[in-house]
Amino acid sequence: MKRFFSIALLLTALVSCSAPAEREAVSVIPQPEHFQLGDGAFRITSDVPVYLDEMTPEFERIAEFLNERLSAAAGFTLKTAEADLRNTNVRGIWFLNAGLPTERYELQVTPEKIVIEYGDGAGAFYGLQTLLQLLPTEIFADHRVHGVRWEVPCCDIEDAPRFAYRGMHLDCCLHFFEMDFLKRYIDLMALHKVNRFHWHLTEDQGWRLEIKKYPLLTEKGQWRKETVIGSLKSGVYDGIPHGGYYSQEEVRELVQYAAERYVTIIPEIEMPGHALAAISCYPELSCGLEDHYETATKWGVFKQVFCTKDETFKFLEDVMDEVFELFPSTLVHIGGDECPKASWKQCPHCQAMIRKLGLKDEFELQSWFITRMEKYINSKGHEIIGWDEILQGGLAPNAKVMSWLGEEGGIKAAQQHHEVVMAPYPKYYLDYWQADPDSEPLAMDGPTLLRTMYEYNPVPEILKPEERRYIIGVEGCVWTEYMPTPARVEYMAWPRMCAIAESGWSNVAKDWEGFTRRLEHHLKRLDGLHVGYCKAFFNPFIEFHDDTKYDKVVTMSIDAPDAEIRYTLDGSEPTMASPRYELPFVINRQQTVTARAFRDGRPIGEPRYKSF
Ligand code: ACM
Ligand code: ZN
Repeated sequence: MKRFFSIALLLTALVSCSAPAEREAVSVIPQPEHFQLGDGAFRITSDVPVYLDEMTPEFERIAEFLNERLSAAAGFTLKTAEADLRNTNVRGIWFLNAGLPTERYELQVTPEKIVIEYGDGAGAFYGLQTLLQLLPTEIFADHRVHGVRWEVPCCDIEDAPRFAYRGMHLDCCLHFFEMDFLKRYIDLMALHKVNRFHWHLTEDQGWRLEIKKYPLLTEKGQWRKETVIGSLKSGVYDGIPHGGYYSQEEVRELVQYAAERYVTIIPEIEMPGHALAAISCYPELSCGLEDHYETATKWGVFKQVFCTKDETFKFLEDVMDEVFELFPSTLVHIGGDECPKASWKQCPHCQAMIRKLGLKDEFELQSWFITRMEKYINSKGHEIIGWDEILQGGLAPNAKVMSWLGEEGGIKAAQQHHEVVMAPYPKYYLDYWQADPDSEPLAMDGPTLLRTMYEYNPVPEILKPEERRYIIGVEGCVWTEYMPTPARVEYMAWPRMCAIAESGWSNVAKDWEGFTRRLEHHLKRLDGLHVGYCKAFFNPFIEFHDDTKYDKVVTMSIDAPDAEIRYTLDGSEPTMASPRYELPFVINRQQTVTARAFRDGRPIGEPRYKSF
């Protein structure tokens, strides 16, 4: 490893400890592995050069990401020049290849210079992300901010990811999202060092990926004639066709956009279930038990799945061939979840297959289906990952598992020495409420609070030490039944995704209190970026616990640090004179709890109400 940083200089520049108030202003999410704050700061002014060890388009682009922010918020940009390694004691921002492992970076800031050491573009990029978070939060503004000194506190950071796979999923089928929003989604991922975009592209409710060989998939399969209003049980529909798809040109554009931000896109093509949109276009791929197939207009699980006949495999292999052309990712997601067996039980062909292959049942038929597809996908140099249910009837030999049905599937797969990404519901499901459902718009279920997400340990204790290495990462899932708009997606995903990103990246012990301090500061960055995140962080969370039929026991909590909760039971707005919540208490039927958080004698957030 090349070391450009003088140890003596470092020792004089750094002090081991700094005042808490000062530390609060330094908040990086996800938390770096080693972070030592020093005295003083480096001030970025328009005459500070950026020195690049490698003057290549890749590293010039990384410098450009810094310039984009500076240009918007500070009103100037920095010139880049090739680093002269014989003379590195020059004031500037230095990007130096120190041969570090992939994604790792070291960042040293002294009053004289900023040095980011890396081993590859990802490391340099993550060093830059941290640098941006060390600047005043106004650096994330989209307009010129006056009166800010663009100072970076002196520090010494060594940082590396905990997991190779740090994912964020987006379902673009239950609702369709435009390209601009997907780019923004990827930008936010990259800011949090999240490096896998799991793109859910096919579903019962719509097929979203252009496949040249099967044009009907998007001509027809993108559409559903209407969408259920409310929950899937309401039986009320909007009468408005919903559609949208991504052309292959758009896919290439997004893959490139993501790659420039060190995000790999993992496409998901669902099989054998969640196939109704495809079957509605090509009914010959079904078990043929119905006269008519139509793209689903409500949510849930549908019995119309791909039949196990050769036509299906020909179709899926053709689709995969185009997928491989579009997505450089080694890993492809083949779904595998929620495949009811009703059609296969009735289908003469599927039953004949079970007999011919000597299988025990439809679960083994599903395993055979996935294994057959895996063989094809492996033969093309790609690997599969699937949801837990691909464990049913036996896991395909080389498959990775994305564990969503709690942890059991992930544990089982790891014990069988298959790699696992932990994406368990409800802990990592961002479609669950994040606050009291009484005060929130419709969501899937829950709530799953920020703290629950933060504290979840993605490496189950039950695994033996040698099995733990099979947990290769984490993923936050964004199913969009109840997220028809980009604003709603952002509201549900953030800031909870910050917690998952930190579990994916940070190699440090969890510290909820410290996280909340950093997060409150970090929210100002999200404000600058106009992320419409949920502000439950600043509001009391009131919970009623059943007791007798006449009373309930009330507990309350608040995420924001240094806040106190004050409440009333008569419907009036709490003030600083109202009782302060200290311990659980009992209420009767006539009482309504109204609670509000206060800090330093002033209210923060919004009042929250809860009635019997
Ligand atoms: C899933 O939520 N069906 C993977
Ligand atoms: Zn069949």
